[in-house]
Amino acid sequence: MDNICFFIVVVTLVLLKCTTLCSGINFFNSSIDEDALLAFKATITSDPDGILANNWYANNASVCYWIGVSCGIKHQRVTALNLSGFHLRGTIAPHLGNLTFLRSLDISFNNFTGILPDELSNLRRLKEINVGCNSFAGEIPSWLGTLHELQHIHLNNNTFTGNIPQSLFNNTSKLLTLDMGYNFLGGNVPQEIGKCIDLEDLRLSFNHFNGNIPSEIGSLVNLKILYLSNNSFGGGIPKQFGNLTSLNILYLDDNKLTGELPQELSNLAYLEIFSIGNNTLIFC
Ligand SMILES: *[C@@H]1O[C@H](CO)[C@@H](O)[C@H](O)[C@H]1NC(C)=O
Ligand SMILES: *[C@@H]1O[C@H](CO)[C@@H](O)[C@H](O)[C@H]1NC(C)=O
Ligand SMILES: *[C@@H]1O[C@H](CO)[C@@H](O)[C@H](O)[C@H]1NC(C)=O
Ligand SMILES: *[C@@H]1O[C@H](CO)[C@@H](O)[C@H](O)[C@H]1NC(C)=O
Ligand SMILES: *[C@@H]1O[C@H](CO)[C@@H](O)[C@H](O)[C@H]1NC(C)=O
Ligand SMILES: *[C@@H]1O[C@H](CO)[C@@H](O)[C@H](O)[C@H]1NC(C)=O
Ligand SMILES: *[C@@H]1O[C@H](CO)[C@@H](O)[C@H](O)[C@H]1NC(C)=O
Ligand SMILES: *[C@@H]1O[C@H](CO)[C@@H](O)[C@H](O)[C@H]1NC(C)=O
Ligand SMILES: *[C@@H]1O[C@H](CO)[C@@H](O)[C@H](O)[C@H]1NC(C)=O
Ligand SMILES: *[C@@H]1O[C@H](CO)[C@@H](O)[C@H](O)[C@H]1NC(C)=O
Ligand SMILES: *[C@@H]1O[C@H](CO)[C@@H](O)[C@H](O)[C@H]1NC(C)=O
Repeated sequence: MDNICFFIVVVTLVLLKCTTLCSGINFFNSSIDEDALLAFKATITSDPDGILANNWYANNASVCYWIGVSCGIKHQRVTALNLSGFHLRGTIAPHLGNLTFLRSLDISFNNFTGILPDELSNLRRLKEINVGCNSFAGEIPSWLGTLHELQHIHLNNNTFTGNIPQSLFNNTSKLLTLDMGYNFLGGNVPQEIGKCIDLEDLRLSFNHFNGNIPSEIGSLVNLKILYLSNNSFGGGIPKQFGNLTSLNILYLDDNKLTGELPQELSNLAYLEIFSIGNNTLIFC
């Protein structure tokens, strides 16, 4: 009996302590995630396959069992959302920014419109964001540069406009993939891109970028894939590209590049695809 009382006291103390400690950050409160996902569902205007309509219900199974949702084992909070190719149409509710345990967000291959709301800047744990192949518009959000765990950013095949904000590279040193291809971006590519030293895959093709190709891209020595084609880049190919010795694929075609091919490019021993057509380069 004494033992049981002692046990109850200890358990109560632990629970009290946890409520005090944990409530501040709502660590175990998965109803925050349910509210966020239902608010997200509410701004979906078309769900032709009925995927969310038939799976995402309030006060039903835990959100962890909803289609496209994954949770952490210990805390049962939403850590991944993958709605890729669900044929959804609509806008992104700002409430998505309440999924603060989210590490991976993949809503690619849908028909989402509108902007990426600023509230998504609350997703401090985000390692991967894929919004590719939708109809998102507006500028590239500069808050992406404050999410310092980000490894993969896919913004490709949308209708983003404006310049790449310099602050995108403020604190994204862990980036491995940056895909902004097939948008309506323009202006110069910021030289700060050279700070993303781990970058392996950089795709900027099919935009309206102009000015010189920043020579700082030549310091991204882990690059395997580099797409810069179909823009309006001028000037010469930076000789620093000769330092990109891991490069497998290099697309520079359909620009306004001039001058000679730098001899340093002969260092690129692993190059499998090299496309430079439709420029005004001099071949000696
Ligand atoms: C959990 O969060 C909801 C808001 O989504 C709030 O209404 C509720 O009081 C919270 N519960 C606890 C135990 O903190
Ligand atoms: C959730 O709702 C669906 C449809 O109303 C129902 O078939 C299912 O049994 C419910 N699941 C739980 C766990 O309540
Ligand atoms: C999302 O699911 C699709 C398959 O439905 C898969 O190809 C893709 O890799 C997944 N995304 C992530 C980030 O895991
Ligand atoms: C987007 O909607 C159009 C119809 O307006 C459709 O043809 C297209 O397949 C949709 N794209 C995706 C990825 O669902
Ligand atoms: C979730 O986000 C919305 C909009 O950003 C906000 O109004 C709401 O208070 C948040 N809810 C919770 C439970 O944090
Ligand atoms: C992006 O759009 C282009 C042109 O429409 C298309 O060729 C390409 O396959 C698309 N990319 C993806 C990943 O679907
Ligand atoms: C990026 O850093 C610069 C200074 O280095 C600062 O002025 C700017 O506000 C930062 N931007 C963001 C989005 O944090
Ligand atoms: C950048 O991220 C690191 C963690 O990777 C953090 O310690 C640091 O405060 C951040 N710096 C800025 C300027 O946000
Ligand atoms: C992109 O490159 C292709 C292949 O050379 C070319 O035919 C096409 O006109 C270019 N498109 C744009 C939009 O620049
Ligand atoms: C990169 O290449 C340039 C010119 O080819 C050279 O001067 C420079 O030292 C190289 N940088 C690194 C980090 O290897
Ligand atoms: C050459 O590239 C430009 C884009 O810089 C494009 O507009 C044009 O159609 C391309 N010409 C050919 C013959 O591919």
